[in-house]
Amino acid sequence: MNNMSLKKEFILNSEESHSFLISFKDLCKSYFTNKIKINILENAEINIKQGETLAIVGSSGIGKSTLLHILGTLDRPDKGSFLFNNMEVFKFCDKELAKFRNRSIGFVFQFHHLLNEFSSVENVMIPALISGLGKQSAKKKAEVILKRVGLGKRLDHKVNQLSGGEQQRVAIARALIIKPKLLLADEPTGNLDKTNSRQIHGLLKELNMEFDMAVVIVTHNMDLANYMSRVVTISDGKLLNYN
Ligand SMILES: Nc1ncnc2c1ncn2[C@@H]1O[C@H](COP(=O)(O)OP(=O)(O)OP(=O)(O)O)[C@@H](O)[C@H]1O
Ligand SMILES: [Mg+2]
Repeated sequence: MNNMSLKKEFILNSEESHSFLISFKDLCKSYFTNKIKINILENAEINIKQGETLAIVGSSGIGKSTLLHILGTLDRPDKGSFLFNNMEVFKFCDKELAKFRNRSIGFVFQFHHLLNEFSSVENVMIPALISGLGKQSAKKKAEVILKRVGLGKRLDHKVNQLSGGEQQRVAIARALIIKPKLLLADEPTGNLDKTNSRQIHGLLKELNMEFDMAVVIVTHNMDLANYMSRVVTISDGKLLNYN
């Protein structure tokens, strides 16, 4: 079964479908450690619109990264209904899910996870090459996006020759090269000073509009969370609007 036919099989018909980019309910996720079960998400639900910006806040260990990993399809929930663009993506096998993820979702983490021995351009090209784009086209695209995030003069710098703020901009450019429907960031400014943090959050907000993608950010910084149009937290395994 090829990718497209598999996807079609899991697209809901028009009576069941709606306009959210992500919609889940009754979502549960728990971990077992030494046979002790810890419930992280318990019948959680949320609807995220296409192009929306959302911050997830809350104390350490409450489940923010767990939630982000599920939103990014890096981890599967134990149960619950989960739709991404009206597709029941967790019904995909692991290989199909990885293919879907590589084409639809961009990730930015606290530690940039860039390849140090490669240049900015080479790092940003990688997802495009994986998605099947030719080398020259991938390079051109990478250069355009790096210029957009303010790194036009750092194209050929190796990652370890860049500042922390610049490294995060490369990570953002790398996430954007596939033009994702959803950009997920887990404490993207956790290692940056105040000025750089503000610039990165401002940039993410601008890119959200330019690329018409939803942006979901986990952050401990309320000042920065408020750049997003909605702020939620996790309480008793459920998602709540944060006040
Ligand atoms: N693979 C795992 N196995 C067992 N327990 C886990 C696993 N991953 C996470 N946990 C536990 O689940 C809880 C939620 O973890 P998570 O990483 O989602 O927290 P968080 O809100 O992102 O915290 P922080 O702000 O410190 O990053 C924690 O108590 C953690 O110890
Ligand atoms: Mg975390």
